[in-house]
Amino acid sequence: MKAYRLNIPTKIYFGRNILEEALKEQQEFVRGTVLIVTSGRSLIRLGYLNGIQSILQGMMHVKKVVVFSEVSANPRLSEVKIGINIGKKAHADIIIGLGGGSALDAAKAIAAGIGHDENIEDFFYGHKEATEKTLPIVAIPTTAGTGSELSKAAILTDDKRKVKGGIRGAALYPAIAIVDSAFTETVPKKITMETGFDVLAHAVESYISKASTPYTEMQSEYVIHTVGTYLPRLALNLGDIEAREKMSFASMIMGINLGNASTCLPHRLQYPIGAHTDTSHGLGLAALFSTWMTYEYKYSRDKLNKVIKLLKNVDCRGYVEAMELMSEFIRSLGLPVSLREIGVTESLIDRIVNEVTGNIQNDPAAQEKDIIDKIYRTAF
Ligand SMILES: [Fe+2]
Repeated sequence: MKAYRLNIPTKIYFGRNILEEALKEQQEFVRGTVLIVTSGRSLIRLGYLNGIQSILQGMMHVKKVVVFSEVSANPRLSEVKIGINIGKKAHADIIIGLGGGSALDAAKAIAAGIGHDENIEDFFYGHKEATEKTLPIVAIPTTAGTGSELSKAAILTDDKRKVKGGIRGAALYPAIAIVDSAFTETVPKKITMETGFDVLAHAVESYISKASTPYTEMQSEYVIHTVGTYLPRLALNLGDIEAREKMSFASMIMGINLGNASTCLPHRLQYPIGAHTDTSHGLGLAALFSTWMTYEYKYSRDKLNKVIKLLKNVDCRGYVEAMELMSEFIRSLGLPVSLREIGVTESLIDRIVNEVTGNIQNDPAAQEKDIIDKIYRTAF
């Protein structure tokens, strides 16, 4: 068996309606001035933000609660800078990210920015890693998707230069993740499907990745089967509480895979699309995914056959069938299977081919000549 290391530095609380209990159990840790970073509107309307504020205000060592709620769906560097200023002025001691992956990623970047003297661009463009000067982070996801609560990356967009990229570093692992699936029960269908597809993409890509380990592969297999079973159930009935719980759990454990096995080409290729079209992460992944599988098949046939077996319980006989079955699954969730459907144009592809950043070498198909160009154009 392959030798491997496994890093899960975050303390995890998982369950339904566990938020208050979890925070109270952590009252020695959650202290001083707390900055809540959140994506706003719907969480305010549903009373989630008020709820957490009143729990915090009742905690023994909490001095003050400050809220920054201006985070967009693709969190922007400009927003992160505002959050850093607010946190510095308030002398924040701890950051709570409350919301979808965007709020959690913004919270991580703000925690790093408050703790360091450098500009946030030094991390984003200079590939400087966030150090232990980063403020402690508590992550409370309200969607089942990014797994950001257990990962060491914060994905951001430079809104001026239209670049989507990441800030990374072990210090960005949240100290505590409170994954309360009750939050996801009010998420509308479109977001449920898009974020749910992100979970599947994490499972498949970390499975195919050259950095996968027996542990991450075991988790991938479980999650592919879980998504194949429960995401279609949610497509039919958003009130399916069991399916909500299963998807929250699957999303969370994929955070472990992100930190330990990373992702493949679809994630790298989605970033420029998201930056230019302001479409969601899950939407771009869905539009790229079956095309990527077609190219990947030559390099990872056995694993991709297993993916289809776990997802659809079908014995796949070749790349055409793999692509068709994946497209069928994506369509059944109401998601797109081509880039054209999400507003990408051919002239945009000419531009973004050279804008893919990050390490693509984890993907076995990266060895194929002009692979990025081929996937973008075929997926169009
Ligand atoms: Fe993702």
